[in-house]
Amino acid sequence: MRIAVAYSSKKGLQKEYKEHLEDILIDQEEEPPPSDFFAEGDSESTINAVLEAFRSKGHNVCGIEADDRAPFKLAKYRPEMVFNVAEGLFGDFRESYIPMVCERLGLPCSGSGPLTLAVCLNKARTKEILSYHSIPNARFMTVFPGEKINLEGFKFPAIIKPVAEGSSKGIFDDSVVDDAKSAKRRIAEKIRKYRQPVIVEEFLDGREFTVAIWGNGKDAEVLPIVSISYDELPETAHKIYSYEAKWVWDTPEKPLDIFKCPADLDRKERKLIEDTVKKTCAVLDVRDWCRVDIRLDSKGIPNVLELNPLPGILPNPEDNSCFPKAARTAGYTYAEMLDRIVGIAAKRYGLGK
Ligand SMILES: Nc1ncnc2c1ncn2[C@@H]1O[C@H](COP(=O)(O)OP(=O)(O)O)[C@@H](O)[C@H]1O
Ligand SMILES: [Mg+2]
Repeated sequence: MRIAVAYSSKKGLQKEYKEHLEDILIDQEEEPPPSDFFAEGDSESTINAVLEAFRSKGHNVCGIEADDRAPFKLAKYRPEMVFNVAEGLFGDFRESYIPMVCERLGLPCSGSGPLTLAVCLNKARTKEILSYHSIPNARFMTVFPGEKINLEGFKFPAIIKPVAEGSSKGIFDDSVVDDAKSAKRRIAEKIRKYRQPVIVEEFLDGREFTVAIWGNGKDAEVLPIVSISYDELPETAHKIYSYEAKWVWDTPEKPLDIFKCPADLDRKERKLIEDTVKKTCAVLDVRDWCRVDIRLDSKGIPNVLELNPLPGILPNPEDNSCFPKAARTAGYTYAEMLDRIVGIAAKRYGLGK
């Protein structure tokens, strides 16, 4: 199959920042972009590993940076499938860019559509939809920039997160707060830094899992569940998978042993999580593949934290990327996993592989 891999490389994002954002941001600027501003780009080695994996499966493949020129390149190359992993840099609809272009050009594109990607990037909108469909998720409120903060009746501890970020951007150890006073301080700080509304969410203190799922409709299949344990985090750290835990305390040289796959769960617990994840993906119209973050509440009920319809796919096991980890546990090599995702997408479009 002729495949175009659409990505947002770290290099590409830096360039995009220089060309489009630097002047605007610096003009209104009190502070430089936060240290985690570029947390999301794909590294060159990940991009090369994806291209190489597709080649090893006999596909004809080219990589396309999801920048201003991407629509022209896609129109010229006319791939039979666009494998989309492009997360973009700025804007509420940044993850929808490539699927939107593909819709316009009439090109099949792997993964969820523009609406689902945009909704899932907004944690508040996602939670509203989940609540409408009675899917458990932590109680929350949204605070908009400039709004007076009223936390009356809100239960603590709570966690404060930017409404539209991923990769633990804006979720630091200090995002967990124990009372209204520190919550207000933290909310103001996050709004200023991340230039967007924040959500304040009741803290779920049960076990945490991340769950990979692939396939559509009745073919949806949950891969072995990954559990996240906080035992190896520094003693004083809050029990969350924070930016520090993801990018600072866990390094390839000194990996934190925080994941277990398959997770220790009895049949009933596992089924409950699997059913929650399947229903979550169905109501949000997720396509082909996704990773859903789950945390148990004090009664042991799986609550949805968020969906990642463009899951990270770092190739090396020591990088602790959870979708590939789950696929590996299910017996798929990296190349087999990618080939399977493209196969699922091709089937959805009614294409022979
Ligand atoms: N309501 C919550 N209760 C407890 N922990 C939470 C809650 N929300 C988020 N967390 C912790 O913060 C981490 C990051 O939050 P998440 O919503 O998944 O954001 P990201 O998009 O950065 O992955 C989670 O993996 C979890 O450890
Ligand atoms: Mg998450």
